[in-house]
Amino acid sequence: MPPEGRPDQDPNWWRDEVVYQVYIRSFADSDGDGVGDLTGIRNRLGYLELLGVGALWITPFYRSPMADHGYDIADPRDVDPLFGTLDDFDALVAEAHELGIRVIVDVVPNHTSTQHDWFRAAITAGPGSEARERYIFRDGRGAGGEQPPNNWPSLFGGPAWTRVPDGQWYLHLFAPEQPDLNWTNQQVWADFERTLRFWLDHGADGFRIDVAYSMAKPPGLPDVDLSLLPPPGVLASADGRFEIEGTHEVHRMVRKVLDEYPGRMAVGEIWVDDPEAYARFLRHDELHLGFNLRFISAGFSAEEVREAIERSQASVAAVGAPSTWTLSNHDVPRQVSRYGGGALGVRRARAMVLVELALPGVVFLYNGEELGLPQADVPAHARQDPMWERSGHTVSRDGCRVPVPWQGDAPPFGFCPAEVEPWLPMPPEWAQLTVEAQLEDPESVLSLYRSALELRGTHPAFAGAGLQWYGAPAGCFAFRRKDGGLICALNASTEPVPLPPGELLLASGPLVGEALPPDTAAWLV
Ligand code: NOJ
Repeated sequence: MPPEGRPDQDPNWWRDEVVYQVYIRSFADSDGDGVGDLTGIRNRLGYLELLGVGALWITPFYRSPMADHGYDIADPRDVDPLFGTLDDFDALVAEAHELGIRVIVDVVPNHTSTQHDWFRAAITAGPGSEARERYIFRDGRGAGGEQPPNNWPSLFGGPAWTRVPDGQWYLHLFAPEQPDLNWTNQQVWADFERTLRFWLDHGADGFRIDVAYSMAKPPGLPDVDLSLLPPPGVLASADGRFEIEGTHEVHRMVRKVLDEYPGRMAVGEIWVDDPEAYARFLRHDELHLGFNLRFISAGFSAEEVREAIERSQASVAAVGAPSTWTLSNHDVPRQVSRYGGGALGVRRARAMVLVELALPGVVFLYNGEELGLPQADVPAHARQDPMWERSGHTVSRDGCRVPVPWQGDAPPFGFCPAEVEPWLPMPPEWAQLTVEAQLEDPESVLSLYRSALELRGTHPAFAGAGLQWYGAPAGCFAFRRKDGGLICALNASTEPVPLPPGELLLASGPLVGEALPPDTAAWLV
């Protein structure tokens, strides 16, 4: 039975919600170890209510040796002491629900940690054992099996296979500490179902499903054409390892479980480029939502953003799922820096969040974007992302994971006690960007987010799912929400342009007389 005190009874809340991603290590540290935790989130729920978000997605907080900061799970049904206890989770959910905020937890069905009991048993039990059947162990190729079983690279760089002392190899699409599970094994299915029910019974309102496109593997594990694989962080289009029918079967199981718990949902991480392949994950008996990573891939260009919007809408329309929009997460460079950094990057990021929040569907915000945080320049010696080493020092996600600055003039800005080192160093120049510095400043990025979220949540102009595009000068676009009537105009050109007719509701920056300046967006009714 769902626990008492759920936010509201609308079972379809997930169709147009604003969800705030909490990267747990970096949000708020309550116990003074320099790493964020569950009680830290609970202590800051008032802030999230003030910001105006309707749900949280919390990144993994389960038992883990933290080789990939929690995405390597040793026990998916327990809380890692670094992040607190199960009681802390229950208290967080209860208090969030009292404030009308839902809680989505992150589940990782593709792999476990090498410290999971199953993997330890697999190593001890040896080749051909039942314990090895839960993972993907194979003999190697070549003389003495010294070559990996196929040519697959890991998505973090380097080979996707590691050899164990008895000579067999195991598959890991990510770090060697993250062995892939074998989704043709019934115990793997049963255990995942148990994990889903465990968190649902603890009051979770839904799941974010990690690498939701990759659980089943192609039969026979054939070599891939390496020339077709995209670099890390780019949507996969022709990677033959993904979108295997067995993965859809897993999602059907997930949906069946969720259907027993009205009002709960699942959103999948789907780094798949082809619109039809993407939509197949969102059929009526599979996931409710998919992350749409097209905004992240689009530059600050009216043409690219419009194309991202149109392609996204067309793909989900075919299966009746809502669109989702996201400008950043813990895996990609922050938007202020992607759009050029400095004052220019901030202006563009402000414009883009108005575009995003004007769109019908679900919006996922990433902690710190509401402060206009740029990508931090984390010194090489302080970097902790396993991708940094695996990619031969070419990719590091640390810069978007630096803790949130709350208050004060110097690091750690209230994230943890002043005498404690935060787990990643915080730039001293973030003194201007703290929550405290921005809260009362009407021109701040935080104030823009608060105003925009309040309007989106209360104004009737945001009703309905249809969009109508207006003609607009080169480098610009304008669309109108067909039912509610909201108009959103973006100027990504280099000259001021006339605003569409209407009454101004909100602009991402100052207008020039009656005109919309470059790098600015506006809402009108
Ligand atoms: C996607 C997660 O968002 C990322 O942070 C993680 O490293 C990989 N999946 C592996 O779990």
